[in-house]
Amino acid sequence: MKKDTNNGIIIAPSILSADFSLLKEALDMIKESGADWVHVDVMDGHFVPNITIGPPVVECLRRATDMFLDVHLMIEDPDKFVPDFVSAGADLLTVHVEACNHLNRTIQLIKEYGIKAGVSLSPATPLASIEYLPEPVDMILLMTVNPGFGGQSYIPQMTGKIRKLREQLNRDGRNIDIQIDGGIGTDNIKEVTSAGANIIVTGSAFFNAPDPALFIKQLRDLAAFASQGEK
Ligand code: DX5
Ligand code: ZN
Repeated sequence: MKKDTNNGIIIAPSILSADFSLLKEALDMIKESGADWVHVDVMDGHFVPNITIGPPVVECLRRATDMFLDVHLMIEDPDKFVPDFVSAGADLLTVHVEACNHLNRTIQLIKEYGIKAGVSLSPATPLASIEYLPEPVDMILLMTVNPGFGGQSYIPQMTGKIRKLREQLNRDGRNIDIQIDGGIGTDNIKEVTSAGANIIVTGSAFFNAPDPALFIKQLRDLAAFASQGEK
């Protein structure tokens, strides 16, 4: 997806850390900062211990921005809500392997609507859980915190998991995007991009940054530095 610029790095600020009374301003700020996508965290109070936003809000976001809406479903039995999120305007729907009874069927369902499909693994979920996916996915999201809240600290063991997944994908000749989500900022973006991640979610670090455009530039520079180091 969108690999032509910025070394293939895509940065997706999460509106979870925005002031929800000012969502339009948050969307404009994300766009003006030079970031690539808007990450939307959907939580149902069952799969994760928090409740956030649903299809009506995604529909409002869709009307308020032309940016790519990357919708991360942290909900049980996501099949039930796929049609609603598609009509709301999601460009990509990511579901959790832990929340799907029949993962392949869920991915197929998302693809039938003609949008992109991602699968996500919580930190404790092994990579083996996605070993047998006949249906190709566009993106694998490795959670780098336990899903549920913004502002948590990066789990250091996840660097090895990212590296292992990238090595496996390279071995199989599959050029799939690896997204990471949770606790990412200027202190660790080099580490995760060197390990093989290329789509970076950033929530609290982005919204707490005094200059969001500078913050995005710093992330890009550090990621570029990491990829040069690898050559
Ligand atoms: C956590 C969410 C993340 C979160 C990231 O369950 O999926 O997208 O908003 O926020 P930070 O960057 O603050 O960890
Ligand atoms: Zn997320």
